[in-house]
Amino acid sequence: METKTAIIAGASGLIGRSLTQQLLKSNDYGQVIALVRKPMGLQHDKLSEVTVDFDGLENIQDFPKGDDIFCCLGSTMKKAGSKEAFYKVDFTYPYELAKAALSAGADRFFLVSAMGAKLKSRYFYNRVKGELEDKISFLNYRTIYIFKPALLRGKRGESRPGESFAKAITTIIPFFGPWKKYHPIHADKVADSMMKVAQQEDKGCYFYQSEIMRKM
Ligand SMILES: NC(=O)c1ccc[n+]([C@@H]2O[C@H](COP(=O)([O-])OP(=O)(O)OC[C@H]3O[C@@H](n4cnc5c(N)ncnc54)[C@H](OP(=O)(O)O)[C@@H]3O)[C@@H](O)[C@H]2O)c1
Repeated sequence: METKTAIIAGASGLIGRSLTQQLLKSNDYGQVIALVRKPMGLQHDKLSEVTVDFDGLENIQDFPKGDDIFCCLGSTMKKAGSKEAFYKVDFTYPYELAKAALSAGADRFFLVSAMGAKLKSRYFYNRVKGELEDKISFLNYRTIYIFKPALLRGKRGESRPGESFAKAITTIIPFFGPWKKYHPIHADKVADSMMKVAQQEDKGCYFYQSEIMRKM
């Protein structure tokens, strides 16, 4: 059976870790390349970790060739430290990654965005995500899949008080009615949805809302 090569950026994150494990287990992928800024120390026959200077993606000459590119990169305003630094991780890196991978011959791009992403949003976070969705959707990939999760559930190695507070509130939202779309979604469920969608044969750009992923 012919297998594909997956390239994943953000493999050390909450969704990225889960997705990497699923990619390694999948028979559809014979090779998984994780682009990291520092080694994760994961050992698997199918896995290669490639240390990348994300600031240098624009001029990278030897970008690895992959079929499917999975982007789970992201930061928070608090972690990044400034709007400029946040923009770099949440817009510039994913966009330059998408362009570099396309030039290296990739067919499909899988982007983890966010539920509220909107080009004209009054919130900076959602605007940055919206700008990325917009720019990525114009790239000449055979297929682009954009996943828009609500607040993520899952075990983090760090505390995020703002997210914990929002999660405590949104968890009591019922699974029916107009607010149901704001229900938090587990990172594993997002990764699982991405793997299911990866089995489809589509052409064009497709969006997956949190509610749809929860039901997949
Ligand atoms: N948190 C939520 O509730 C939520 C909700 C909806 C959508 N999202 C979006 O979903 C996506 C994945 O979220 P997540 O919570 O799984 O992410 P995460 O756990 O915060 O992981 C982020 C990933 O991005 C990498 N990264 C961060 N800063 C970087 C930098 N300066 N240079 C290179 N790599 C960097 C991290 O690598 P290191 O390990 O090297 O730092 C890590 O692999 C993000 O785009 C996020 O905005 C999040």
